[in-house]
Amino acid sequence: MGINFKLLLAGSVVAIGAMALLASSINEREQERVELHKTPVIAKSIENKSEEWARYYPRQYSSWKKTKEQDELTDMLKEKSQLAVLWAGYGFAKDYNAPRGHYYALQDNVNTLRTGAPVDDKTGPMPTACWTCKSPDVPRIQERDGELEYFTGKWSKYGDEIVNTIGCASCHSNETGELLVRVPHLDRALKSAGLPTFAESTHQEKRNLVCAQCHVEYYFQKTEWKDKDGNKKIAKVVTLPWANGLTAEGAEKYYNDMNFTDWTHKISKTKMLKTQHPGYELYKTGIHGQKGVSCADCHMPYTQEGSVKYSDHQLQNPLETMDRSCMNCHRESEKKLKEIVHRKYERKDQLHEIAMDNLAKAHLETAKAMEAGATDAELKDIRANIRSAQWNWDYAVASHPAFFHAPEETLRLLAVANEKAQNARIGLVGVLAKHGVMNYSAPDFSTKEKAQKLAGVPFEKLVAAKLKFKKTLEKEWYKQAEAKGTLNAKASRQGLDDVETAYSK
Ligand code: HEC
Ligand code: HEC
Ligand code: HEC
Ligand code: HEC
Repeated sequence: MGINFKLLLAGSVVAIGAMALLASSINEREQERVELHKTPVIAKSIENKSEEWARYYPRQYSSWKKTKEQDELTDMLKEKSQLAVLWAGYGFAKDYNAPRGHYYALQDNVNTLRTGAPVDDKTGPMPTACWTCKSPDVPRIQERDGELEYFTGKWSKYGDEIVNTIGCASCHSNETGELLVRVPHLDRALKSAGLPTFAESTHQEKRNLVCAQCHVEYYFQKTEWKDKDGNKKIAKVVTLPWANGLTAEGAEKYYNDMNFTDWTHKISKTKMLKTQHPGYELYKTGIHGQKGVSCADCHMPYTQEGSVKYSDHQLQNPLETMDRSCMNCHRESEKKLKEIVHRKYERKDQLHEIAMDNLAKAHLETAKAMEAGATDAELKDIRANIRSAQWNWDYAVASHPAFFHAPEETLRLLAVANEKAQNARIGLVGVLAKHGVMNYSAPDFSTKEKAQKLAGVPFEKLVAAKLKFKKTLEKEWYKQAEAKGTLNAKASRQGLDDVETAYSK
C-alpha cells in the first residue's frame, strides 16, 4: 500500500465521519422542519394565551416577546403642549403617550387616565369597545357572548376577562396557523368600501390587513339591539368610516352626513371630531403602499437562523432593522436612507407645529368672542372651519409615522388644516372687533401644566383615583382571570405591574 493511498483512506474516514455528522444534523433540522410544518392545533380554550404557542413556534414566540424591550414612554402632552388645548373636554387632554411595544398595549390601556378609575363592573368613563385593539381575548369574548353583548356596557365589565396583550391569536388561526382576522368590524368596513374581504384578499394584502384590524380610523357606532330575553340594549360598535373611500375627505363627509360629533370642545364649544390612527389608510397613499410593499415586509423582516427562515415578530421601528427591512430593495447606504427619512420628519414637524398653534389660538379666541357676547350664529362658520381644520391636522399626525408612510398626503393634509385654521382666525378678528375686543392675544399654553389648566383637566385628582384603582380593582381582575384559567400571569405579566406611566415619574 503506497503512502498516498493510506493518506487517501485516512482522509476518507475523516470525510465519512464529517458526512455522518452532517447527516445527523440534517436529520435534526429535517425533524425540526417537519415539526414546524405539522401545523399543531392550539386548543380554542387556550389560544388567547400566547405562551401556549411557544412550544410549537419558539422563534416567533421569543421574537414576539421582545416587544417588551420597547418600553420607552414618551408623554406627548409634554412634547407638544398645544395638544391639551386642542383636546379640551376630551379624554386625550388627560393623558396621551406615543405608542410603544405591543407587549404594553393592554397595560397601557389599563394605565391611561383616559380609562378612568372604575370601582366595579358598571362604572368608569369608557365603553367596552376600548378593549378592541388590545387583546386576543376580544374575539374570544365576542365568540362567547355575541358581538353586540361584547359592545354593550362599561369598559370595566370585562376587566377580569381581557387580560392578555395582542398575541398569536390576534393574527393567526388556532387550527391552520394561517393569517386570520377574527374581529368582524374589518370585513364589514372592506365591504362598505367595495373592497375584497380578508378571505378574498391576496396573500400580500393579508400581510397588511392583520395590522388594519387595529391601525385604522374608527368610531363607536350606537346600535340598538334586543337580548334573548327581549331587553332593549345599546351597543357601541367599533366601525370604520370607509363607505366614501379610505381618505380624510371621505371619512369627514361620512361623519358630517350623519351629524356625528365625538365631543363638544370645552373652550370653543365646537362640535369636534377625533381622528384615531388611520395608519393603514395613509400607508395606502404612499409610494410603498402603492408599490405593494406590505407592513410585514418592513416591520416583520425575514430572519435566517440555521436552515430555518422565519418572520421576525418583534414589531418595532424598522430603522432598527434596516439591513433586513430596507436593504434588500434599496441601494443607498443605511446612513443616507436614514437622513432622507429624518428630513421628511422635519418637514412634517414644521407644518405640524404651525397647525397646532393656529388651532389652539382659534379655540381660545373663540372663547374670548363668546365672553364678549358673540352668538352661535356669528360663530357658525368659524366653528365649521375649526372642526374641519382639526380633523385634517389630526388625520395627518395621529398615526405618528405617516410622515414616512405617506409624506405627500401628510403635508397636503397639514396645509389644508393650516388654511382652515387661518380662515377661522381671520373670521375671529372680525367678530372680536364687532364686540369691542381689539388686539386680543391668547393665553400661554407652552407647558403641559399651563395647557391642562386652560383645558380644565383636574390632573392630580385623576391620578389619585387611578392609583387607588390600580391597588384594588385591577389586582382583583388578574386574580379572577388566573382562577378562571384565562391568564398565566407568571408567563405574560412580567414587569407590567410597575411599568412607567406619564404620572408615575
Ligand atoms: C390587536 C390590535 C393590533 C394589531 C393586530 C396590530 N397592532 Fe400594532 N399596535 C397596537 C397598539 C394598541 C399599539 C400601541 C401599544 C402601546 O403603546 O402600548 C401598537 C403599536 C405598534 C407599533 C409601535 C411599536 C413601538 O415600539 O413604538 C408598531 C411598529 C406596530 N404597532 C406595528 C404593527 C404592525 C406592522 C402590525 C401588523 C403586522 C400591527 N402593529 C398589528 C395594536 C395593534
Ligand atoms: C400582529 C399580527 C401577528 C401576531 C400578533 C403574530 N403573528 Fe405570526 N405572523 C404574522 C405575519 C404577518 C406573518 C407572515 C405570514 C405570511 O406571510 O404568510 C406571520 C408568520 C408566522 C408564522 C409562519 C412562519 C414565519 O415565521 O413566517 C408562524 C409560525 C407564526 N407567525 C407564529 C406566530 C406566533 C406563535 C405568534 C405569537 C407568539 C404570532 N405569530 C403572532 C402576524 C402576526
Ligand atoms: C417601507 C417600509 C414600511 C412599511 C411598508 C410600513 N412601515 Fe411602518 N414604519 C416604517 C418606518 C421606517 C417607521 C419609523 C419612522 C420613524 O419614526 O422614524 C415606521 C413606523 C411605524 C409605526 C410607529 C412606530 C412608533 O413608535 O411611532 C407604526 C405603528 C407603523 N409603522 C405601522 C405600520 C403599519 C400598520 C403598516 C402597514 C399598513 C406599516 N407600518 C408599513 C416603515 C414601514
Ligand atoms: C420590497 C421593497 C422595498 C422595501 C423593503 C423598502 N422599500 Fe423603500 N422604496 C421601494 C420602492 C419601489 C420605492 C419607490 C421608488 C422607486 O420606485 O425607486 C421606495 C421609495 C422609498 C423612499 C423614497 C420615497 C418617498 O416617499 O420619498 C424612501 C425614503 C424609502 N423608500 C425608504 C425605505 C426605508 C427606510 C425602508 C426600510 C424601513 C424601505 N424603504 C423599504 C421599495 C422598498
